[in-house]
Formats: sequence, structure tokens, C-alpha cells
Amino acid sequence: MSTPFGRRLCEVASNRDSGGYRVVALIDRDGPEPEPGQFYMLAAARGWDSRDGRAFLPRAISVADVNPAAGGGVKLDFLLDAVGPGTGRLCDLGEGEGVWITGPLGNSFASPREVSPVAAGAVLVGGGVGTAPLALLRRRFSERAVPHRVLLGFRDRAHTGGLDLFCGSSGALCPEVRMTTEDGHAGVQGRVTDLLLPILAGDDASSAVVYSCGPPAMLEAIRALCTEHGVPCELALESPMACGFGACFGCAVPKPGGGYLRLCIDGPVLRGDQVEEVSHAYA
Ligand SMILES: Cc1cc2nc3c(=O)[nH]c(=O)nc-3n(C[C@H](O)[C@H](O)[C@H](O)COP(=O)(O)OP(=O)(O)OC[C@H]3O[C@@H](n4cnc5c(N)ncnc54)[C@H](O)[C@@H]3O)c2cc1C
Ligand code: FES
Repeated sequence: MSTPFGRRLCEVASNRDSGGYRVVALIDRDGPEPEPGQFYMLAAARGWDSRDGRAFLPRAISVADVNPAAGGGVKLDFLLDAVGPGTGRLCDLGEGEGVWITGPLGNSFASPREVSPVAAGAVLVGGGVGTAPLALLRRRFSERAVPHRVLLGFRDRAHTGGLDLFCGSSGALCPEVRMTTEDGHAGVQGRVTDLLLPILAGDDASSAVVYSCGPPAMLEAIRALCTEHGVPCELALESPMACGFGACFGCAVPKPGGGYLRLCIDGPVLRGDQVEEVSHAYA
């Protein structure tokens, strides 16, 4: 079991809309800089208990961006979709409010070369709020001059958030980012796998690694397509997490060939061949 970096109280620096999601920034004065794919356990300091249907346990949330904070420490950006009491409360946080955080937790995405010795570039495939960890990964790849393409898929206008984390606040798509929406209101109408398939079928597919995060059905489609085309992939998975650091076994997922992985410490990033099938039990 890995020892998590201690629980500490952080202040909300900002909370802004991002296409139906919220981007909440916290100032972490004492914690280390997280790596792409890692997550934090978050709980609002106020109004976080089991009364009134509110959340009781902290919630696992991926870090979407990190920057130096004025006055020391790091500013952590989290992309949130209000699906229940925990994320709802986090989305309502006001500037200056306190949030208890533990982290960074879990493993991180590997470089293409670490995943496959013949890999030279990356294809990042995100769906919905699952685009969050890929925003930080993309920034790291840009800084390290790793060639990459980004494919993002969204359901509808109300769930097309986080684009600004990839392309800045102008609202325009940057050239290396392509988007699908199921309702066709922006980008190409369809699913993100429609954009991935021609890449996997292309001549240079064997020199790429696919990195993905999103809803379970999308991750399973990507795992199956990558397996079929012999392209390695890393998937950032979700499962219910109570502790976040290996103590409760709440996040256990089956391994191919038997046994279990604890997604909070063995993941959340797993290679495609570490997963038999991405099931809804993972979300
Ligand atoms: C490693 C990891 C990283 C994560 N990163 C993020 C992140 O960056 N941003 C983010 O918003 N969430 C993220 N999540 C998901 C988040 O932790 C869960 O959705 C959490 O359970 C929400 O808590 P809640 O109290 O709001 O809703 P809950 O009470 O847990 O769930 C309320 C209802 O929403 C449904 N639900 C739960 N999760 C989802 C979901 N993901 N999509 C749709 N419906 C859902 C449940 O089935 C239930 O019906 C992450 C989870 C993990 C494990
Ligand atoms: S969340 Fe407790 S062991 Fe993984």
C-alpha cells in the first residue's frame, strides 16, 4: 500500500462554468505537483455530511491542470460534472471556501516509449468529463515535444465542457483537437470512435499509443478496437472509491486470469491488456 500525501485544507481560488461542467481551482500550498492521470479525494469543508442527502465520503476527482500558485504551492484545476450530492456540492463551492484534499493519488499515464519501444506518438481520446486527465497529459506531451492528436467526444450541448482546458478560453477548437458530438451541435456528428477508427486502420498506427478516459462503454469500445488493430492503449478507469489509497478494497476490479486490482493504487490508469472488459462496475 502506498502512503498518501496527508489530508490538508485548501482554498478555492475560482469556480467557473465550462460548457455545462465546472472548473474548480484549489490552491494547494503544501502538496507535490501531480502527474497526468492522478486524482485527489475531495470533500468540501462545510456542508459535507450525511444529512440532507449530502455526500459523506470524499469523492475521487482527476486533476485536469496544474500551475504554480502565486505565493507558493500549486493551483490545481478540477473539471466537475454534477451527477450527485458530492460533485453537486463541489460544483457549488465559492471563492475562498475550504476543501479537504488527499493526494495526489494513484498512478499516472506512461510515455509512448514506456508503453511500446516502437511508439513515437500518441492519440488522446476523451469522452465527457473524462476529458479531464487528458488535458494535463496533452500539456505534458506538448512540453516534451511528443507528437499527439486529440479526439474528444461529447453527448450534447449541455455536456461539452472542458474544451478550454485544451484550447484556451477563445472557445475555438485548436487544430490538433478534433471533436464529435452525438447531437451534431458542434464538430462531427457521431461518436469519438468514428474518428479513432481511421487512425487505427492507417499505416502509421503501429507507432502510436492510445490514451483514453471517459464513460465505460466508450472505454470498452476503445479497448476492443485497439486490441483488434494491435495498438497499445492506456485507459484511465473509474470505480467507487471510499479511501483512495488501498485500505478499503471498495475499488477492486477483476484482473484477466483471476484476482483483483485495486484501482486506486494499481490504477486508475491500466494498460488495455490488464483489463478483460471495461464494465459498468468500473464506474
Ligand atoms: C479516479 C477517478 C477520477 C474521477 N475524476 C472525475 C472528474 O475529474 N470529474 C468528475 O466530475 N467526476 C470524476 N470521477 C467520478 C466521481 O468521483 C463520481 O462520479 C462520484 O461518485 C460522484 O459523487 P456524487 O456524490 O456526486 O454522486 P454519487 O452519489 O456517487 O452518484 C449519484 C448518481 O450519479 C451516478 N453517477 C456516478 N458517477 C457518475 C458518472 N461518472 N457519470 C454519470 N453518472 C454517474 C450514480 O450512478 C448515481 O446514480 C472520478 C472517479 C474516479 C474513481
Ligand atoms: S478506494 Fe479504498 S482500496 Fe481503493
